[in-house]
Amino acid sequence: MRIDIITLLPELLRSPFEASILKRAIDNGVVEIHLHDLRKYGLGNYRQVDDYQFGGGAGMVIMIEPIDNCISDLKKERHYDDVIYLTPDGQTLNQAMANELSLKENLILLCGHYKGVDQRVRDHLVTKEISIGDYVLSGGELGAAVLCDTVIRLLPGVLNDETSALTDSFQDNLLAPPVYTRPAKYKGLEVPEILLSGNTPKIEAWREQKAHERTVEKRPDLLGE
Ligand code: ADE
Repeated sequence: MRIDIITLLPELLRSPFEASILKRAIDNGVVEIHLHDLRKYGLGNYRQVDDYQFGGGAGMVIMIEPIDNCISDLKKERHYDDVIYLTPDGQTLNQAMANELSLKENLILLCGHYKGVDQRVRDHLVTKEISIGDYVLSGGELGAAVLCDTVIRLLPGVLNDETSALTDSFQDNLLAPPVYTRPAKYKGLEVPEILLSGNTPKIEAWREQKAHERTVEKRPDLLGE
């Protein structure tokens, strides 16, 4: 998979890809991440990327031309499955969307700033609009990092058996069950006995039941209620 990220703040997006699972995925060639500084496509001597909005009102709007030029350059090199704009009024990201995106070959992520981008970008250049939650960020970069993390960890060869995404919360619309590790007793607090029994089918049944109970208690909406 290849992800091209268009941003005015590439520095903000470097560190998430320089550590842990995402770094390993890149080092192993499972994914390529390319950051594109939109400023380089800015207009004129000042590399202008934004302007006042027509009709008046506070806040600058990112112009269509720098974005169009950047996306066109990328599209000359390869086909893209989607051009995704990160925006608080997009479709809220969930596990099903992450699963679907993990099957794509090439993606462009566009990060907005200020009051956002010229509506013509959204109408004609973007194919999907995604929000990472009902709150407003200063820009799309942290949203892009979240989206990349959740998608890349699903790619074959990124997680090993032990960290397999199949047992994550949300994969069956259920939260993950509780987990415990040594010691079996700490200051009088005990681990559920069943987990020490070695009886795998019983343990599996217990985990399923706990996952269900936890979901009913914390996120009944996931069960469609
Ligand atoms: N940009 C600003 N707020 C955002 C959000 N909640 N999700 C994605 N991109 C954003």
